[in-house]
Amino acid sequence: MNIEKFLPSQVKVASPDRLAETVVLWLEKIATDAVKTNGECHVALSGGSTPKAIYQLMASENYAGRFEWNKMKFYFGDERTVPHDHPDSNYKMAMDALLSRVPIPSENIFAINTNCKDFNVCAAQYQQVLKQQLPVSAQGFGQFDVVFLGMGEDGHTASLFPGTDILSERKRWVSAVYVQKLETWRISITFPLINHAYNVAFIVAGENKAEKIREILAQKVNQYPIEKVSPRDNCVWFLDSNAAKLIVD
Ligand code: 6PG
Repeated sequence: MNIEKFLPSQVKVASPDRLAETVVLWLEKIATDAVKTNGECHVALSGGSTPKAIYQLMASENYAGRFEWNKMKFYFGDERTVPHDHPDSNYKMAMDALLSRVPIPSENIFAINTNCKDFNVCAAQYQQVLKQQLPVSAQGFGQFDVVFLGMGEDGHTASLFPGTDILSERKRWVSAVYVQKLETWRISITFPLINHAYNVAFIVAGENKAEKIREILAQKVNQYPIEKVSPRDNCVWFLDSNAAKLIVD
């Protein structure tokens, strides 16, 4: 099956051991342009396990020198409602893999506060932080330079899970959401905020994601939350060859 025949032009497939480098080189160019144009680069990091290797590569000796860390600002696309030192914390994963290993000023790292009785308060607090930091589009939404997003096996992205009320949020930039299947609260950026980003990069790896990738990119079934991500500008799918195995020869 010829990849160009079924897929948007912005799909990049790499072997599992080259995926991280492919993403980091792409980010380097975006960040360099953003810093040159605006003096800073606003990046929303995704959680889960897939991006860890990418964050580690960014912090490595061969790549860390490619970024102007004092002009990079890092945020989180979503967070689990656990303390920041908890093993499930997306903040902890990013700090351990990247942010504690590069010379980035601490004031350039914007964690989602999870220490609230009512997680809607945490979400509202984070929305205020974003409103203070991000440039705003003509439609009134913050504009990240890059939003990194993963994909769950159920087609969720960030903490935008199937069947949850956050999927229909059209005004808030950040919302708290109870995820019944996980029996827990999450805090997540919303579709309107994601879709006003200048660049969205999906990072999907592993054979367990291959069927969903086929349904979404080849069949375009339009059934899953991740399919509601449609930024006006640039949207790139970074897939490893295992996740892409059902859509390429
Ligand atoms: C999270 C992420 C979530 C993740 C996907 C994929 O907080 O877990 O925001 O959307 O990106 O579930 O996770 P893996 O990379 O672990 O497969």
